[in-house]
Amino acid sequence: MLVLIDHANLKEIEALYDMYPYDGVTTNPTILKNEHKNPIQLLKDIRALLPSGCQLHAQVISDTTEGIMEEAHFMLNEIAEDMFIKVPVSSAGMKAIYLLKSEGVNVTATAIYTAMQAFMAGKAGARYAAPYVNRLDNMGADGVQVAADIHQMFRLHNMECDVLAASFKNSQQILNLCKKGVGAVTAAPEVLRALIQHDATFTAEENFENDFYSLVHEIKGIDLNRKHD
Ligand code: E4P
Repeated sequence: MLVLIDHANLKEIEALYDMYPYDGVTTNPTILKNEHKNPIQLLKDIRALLPSGCQLHAQVISDTTEGIMEEAHFMLNEIAEDMFIKVPVSSAGMKAIYLLKSEGVNVTATAIYTAMQAFMAGKAGARYAAPYVNRLDNMGADGVQVAADIHQMFRLHNMECDVLAASFKNSQQILNLCKKGVGAVTAAPEVLRALIQHDATFTAEENFENDFYSLVHEIKGIDLNRKHD
């Protein structure tokens, strides 16, 4: 399962990559807005920061197929030709997904709230489909189940599309999807850090360290050359 960072702050991305080899960065217009910078320059800077082979996903905002195509071509030319273009699954978006796929562009279908939206996006040629897990939970639906259903449908129909589950509030949602075998998840820095943090690990590490130093202290008073009975 690929693990991506759903964020656009350069320092945060650098700090997270320093801790663990993630698989790339996803953004959306809201995430970019939070940084108060020229979004194209920021996406270029993020691309430059990422190790080769890592993915960068950025979203179009147009609501017509023509507009989406124009924006996609602009980003591919300006930022990186191998980047993933995120396209919301509206009718105009579905057509753009099909056209972009026929040009060989990597597409992530986004703003997915139902399994059938994901299925149709996969048929149109999307490489990834991004269901919004926590937003679904907040609507009284089961976000993990929707994402798991999509994964199962893709495999059942031999489609070349994977789930890139997005919108997470906690590590339990990610664990549940990891157990289902989904292709990828993307989450904000605080959720990613929580994936590996556990107080019991910290306590165990501390106890081992204390025991070692107390042994060192004890050894000072022991003749290590003396033969035992
Ligand atoms: C990804 O495609 C989404 O834009 C993002 O994960 C949404 O996350 P949020 O629900 O926390 O805003």
